[in-house]
Amino acid sequence: MNNTPLLQIQNLTRKYPSPEGDQELIVFENANFNIERGEFVCIIGHSGCGKSTILNVLAGLDDASSGVVIMDNTEVKGPSLDRGVVFQNYSLLPWLSALNNVIFGVRARFPDWSRKQVKEHSYKYLKMVGLGDGAEQRNPSQLSGGMRQRVSIARAFAIQPKLLLLDEPFGALDALTRGTIQDELIRVWSDTDQTVFMITHDVDEAILLADRILLMSNGPYATIAESVVIDIPRPRKRAEIIHHDAYYPIRNHLVDFLTTRSKNTHQMDPSTPPVLNQQPLTVRPGIVPDALHLNTLPTVSNKFTKNRLTALTGTES
Ligand SMILES: Nc1ncnc2c1ncn2[C@@H]1O[C@H](COP(=O)(O)OP(=O)(O)OP(=O)(O)O)[C@@H](O)[C@H]1O
Ligand SMILES: [Mg+2]
Repeated sequence: MNNTPLLQIQNLTRKYPSPEGDQELIVFENANFNIERGEFVCIIGHSGCGKSTILNVLAGLDDASSGVVIMDNTEVKGPSLDRGVVFQNYSLLPWLSALNNVIFGVRARFPDWSRKQVKEHSYKYLKMVGLGDGAEQRNPSQLSGGMRQRVSIARAFAIQPKLLLLDEPFGALDALTRGTIQDELIRVWSDTDQTVFMITHDVDEAILLADRILLMSNGPYATIAESVVIDIPRPRKRAEIIHHDAYYPIRNHLVDFLTTRSKNTHQMDPSTPPVLNQQPLTVRPGIVPDALHLNTLPTVSNKFTKNRLTALTGTES
């Protein structure tokens, strides 16, 4: 088994020149974090702190001002079909139908497949997000915002990338559709070796889906302040996880960060020397310190934890 993290984000900084040309805007500075193979990681932070910018750098669609992103021991230098992206603004090709938008990605990903295979595979994923029965023939301008978002989700799932990068993928969906597609995401993720990095503003969604939630402080000079481990066993059911002992301690910890601590952690003083290689603080709200020993941790039946335990103990659990 390959024990190096799938992704290593090292001292990542993104600056923009100010419109007036005097002072630069330092969106985030020296962001460091790892994502393990098979892990589901959410990131939460206030609007404008730099979440989409980080995701675009991970996708290889934007360059950092300094620092590196390493995926599978290779530096990310441009886009790749190993990374599927659902953008905050959907980014569909406006002249292609919903089906052809998905086919476009699938054909590039699986060039050896027949036309029939590509079409069937693409349609399967559109059906999965509730867009069959004629909707697949419409162009993006003929679809609602939520339908466009679903096409974008279908396209990202259908190319079966190693890493799924999701930028608020469910923002435009009603609660019912959102729940159905969240369940599909978890099913696709747990049936494959995929790793997920997802931006969300919804703390309940993050607790439902993630193995770990990264908390990003406010910009400018934003940092990845904490890594919150979600010690709630899978499968997780919406109606049941709220009764788990760790649920409210985790939720309160996240809300407290967003309302209070996110403001206090950033370094506004440019004369402060940069802090390099600082990984976010790992936090396990709701777990008493005595239980932190691996043997006494609650049973978490997700594949990432299983992999990690196997790597640590050398035995299959
Ligand atoms: N091309 C650009 N030129 C200058 N500033 C930019 C550019 N793109 C983004 N920014 C700035 O970078 C900061 C981070 O933007 P980003 O889109 O990453 O935020 P975000 O955390 O995703 O916010 P939201 O939750 O609202 O989507 C913002 O202050 C934004 O104004
Ligand atoms: Mg954003």
